[in-house]
Amino acid sequence: MTDIQNLLNTRRMNYSLERPFYTDPEIFNHDLANIHYREWLFAIPSCEIPKTGNFVTYKIGEYNVIIVRGADQQIRAFHNTCRHRGSVICKVAKGTAPKLVCPYHQWTYELDGSLMWARDMGPDFDPTQHGLKTVHCRTVAGLVYICLAENAPNFDEFKFIAEPYLEPHELENAKVAYESTIVEKGNWKLVWENNRECYHCGGNHPALCRSFPDDPVVTKIEGNTPPERLQAHFDRCEAVGMKSQFYIHTDGQFRLARMPLKDGAESYTMDTKSAVNKWLGRSPFADAGTLLKFHYPTTWNHFLADHSIVFRVTPISPTETEVTTKWLVHKDAVEGVDYYVKRLTEVWEATNDEDRRVVEDNQNGIQNPVYEPGPYSADHEAGVMQFVDWYCEKMKSRLSPIILAAE
Ligand code: FES
Ligand SMILES: [Fe+2]
Repeated sequence: MTDIQNLLNTRRMNYSLERPFYTDPEIFNHDLANIHYREWLFAIPSCEIPKTGNFVTYKIGEYNVIIVRGADQQIRAFHNTCRHRGSVICKVAKGTAPKLVCPYHQWTYELDGSLMWARDMGPDFDPTQHGLKTVHCRTVAGLVYICLAENAPNFDEFKFIAEPYLEPHELENAKVAYESTIVEKGNWKLVWENNRECYHCGGNHPALCRSFPDDPVVTKIEGNTPPERLQAHFDRCEAVGMKSQFYIHTDGQFRLARMPLKDGAESYTMDTKSAVNKWLGRSPFADAGTLLKFHYPTTWNHFLADHSIVFRVTPISPTETEVTTKWLVHKDAVEGVDYYVKRLTEVWEATNDEDRRVVEDNQNGIQNPVYEPGPYSADHEAGVMQFVDWYCEKMKSRLSPIILAAE
């Protein structure tokens, strides 16, 4: 642990991290233990489990979680391990079940996690002591977050701030039109670093750049007054009830801002026009831009006038990261009539693959023993610095031994 602390304490500010942060299994385990096992993690959009008994499972590090909608419509999360001898209960990524039945000896749990039935356990057995272990679970405007920690950090502040931005997108009325999961052979922090800058966009993302401005103003306004044209965009959207103004939390964990797309662009399509006729949400105009939201350590999102896209970033190993993308459209939009999956997804399918390639190239080069941290561009990579600072500060605060006051 001292080594990591040393590396954190001696790091060169505004430079990429030392090699072990991207390669070392011990640091990877510290990342999980101090970040992913302790922070709120975006898991799924709630529209993915619209009915009683719908569930999804989500693996993160050593944990495996069931997220399920109960008969009372409440969404809950449980550890996916049986209270008998520990078998995994839900073996599939998603499904529907009236009860949660363990495949081993058929202990049967209600959707609220209570143990309903266990065969021949004798008169002294107390089922109320053997319900599924719960995982903290909260929803904000149709996005389900979980927290694996025993004591979860405050969620209400994020919810209070994020809701007015998200609410106009009416994510409760959505359905998943398409989803993709890829594994990038790169450390999860490289996936984030890449996401937080558009310095690479011009050279790598021809389809995305049709709509998305690679103008650093998108990542650089943190703490600055927005330029006039950006403020005009915020004002125009806010006048119709869509909160837009740039916001970043003081500890840097999440950011919200409704940014304009390129002039005339409406959505992430090859012709830059809307992808879906029946819009998700109540934007009165097509060129509302994209509500950019990130919430470390698992999600960045784009919310557009016609559809929304949610991304989830899950570390697999020091050099592998799963990236899941879900395209959300209005639940009544009909495929082949209101939208076409190819048109809806092709820009970000290409962008994800391009990002996978640059992240893998980055990882590959860092594996070289002569790699040394290099300088971030203050003009283009302020967002990367912000992410790296957040990560380092969070790790430092969690790794630091408790200093006892001098007697
Ligand atoms: S391990 Fe689940 S019923 Fe036995
Ligand atoms: Fe990219």
